[in-house]
Amino acid sequence: MPRKDLLDIAGLERGEIDHLLDQAVPFKELFTRSVKKVPALKGKSVLMLFYEPSTRTHSSFEVAAKRLSADVTNFDVPHSSIVKGESVRETVETLQAMRTDYIIVRHGRSGLPGTIAKMTRASVVNAGDGAHAHPTQALLDAFTIKEKFPDPTGKRVLIVGDILHSRVARSTSTILKKLGLEVAYLGPGSLVPKNGPENIHRFTNYDEAMAWSPDIVYLLRVQMERQEVQYFPSLREYHKLYGVTDERLKAISDKGLYLMHPGPVNRGVELCDAVMDYERTLINDQVENGIAVRMAVLYWLKPGVLGGEA
Ligand code: CP
Repeated sequence: MPRKDLLDIAGLERGEIDHLLDQAVPFKELFTRSVKKVPALKGKSVLMLFYEPSTRTHSSFEVAAKRLSADVTNFDVPHSSIVKGESVRETVETLQAMRTDYIIVRHGRSGLPGTIAKMTRASVVNAGDGAHAHPTQALLDAFTIKEKFPDPTGKRVLIVGDILHSRVARSTSTILKKLGLEVAYLGPGSLVPKNGPENIHRFTNYDEAMAWSPDIVYLLRVQMERQEVQYFPSLREYHKLYGVTDERLKAISDKGLYLMHPGPVNRGVELCDAVMDYERTLINDQVENGIAVRMAVLYWLKPGVLGGEA
């Protein structure tokens, strides 16, 4: 059954996740054709409402919507009446009056996409809210892993870094657990919360984490903008203790492990430059798959019912 909104991975059934990942496969096949468009959402309108910066999520939603033949409007927050103090409710009611079918929202406040979803008949997709959730990132990560491991059950993913502030860590570990993978967190004690999802191993030492034998090492961006206090001595120290250094990349390559990162990368902090040339780095696959997965999401959601949510 289609839903009106996609707000979080936690609320999705396993069957719904499988459906979205399966649906993304034929959409990705379109990318190799000379005409990369299908008329599935012809006549529908998609509005991008990004209160926070984004490169990948914003541009891939826009490309996804256009490949489905929808009309896309970019709501220019810095030049809108929001800067004159217009509230989120007034903004959404204005957009509702324009009969927008889909609103893609990124906001620094956790839960805001859910609030908007209750105000509008448009389908709302959470494109990242505070440290809460980033459901389409989770879907594209799962899709990318399934391309390498068609049956990923029991595969091990080590998520490294700033777990505390990361909506990606929260959503991606949730989807991976739902798909039967094993997940572990590695980072400074101050950035790896002790509370939170169960059945997730927690490490603060790199060598101990690697002894857990991951198949994939998933580096998170250190989110300086969300750290109101300093959680580790310096970025240099962080790279030494938790980053993929040249020396660690050699060991990762010898073991044939895959590397992932949601972007944007802080080079020299999470990753050394050589990671970008490593054959098992999946960062560009993640970006490409983001379009296919977001096409699947837009195609699946059904605007029109007030108050429904995932
Ligand atoms: N992964 C991700 O959300 O990247 P952007 O901030 O560039 O959208």
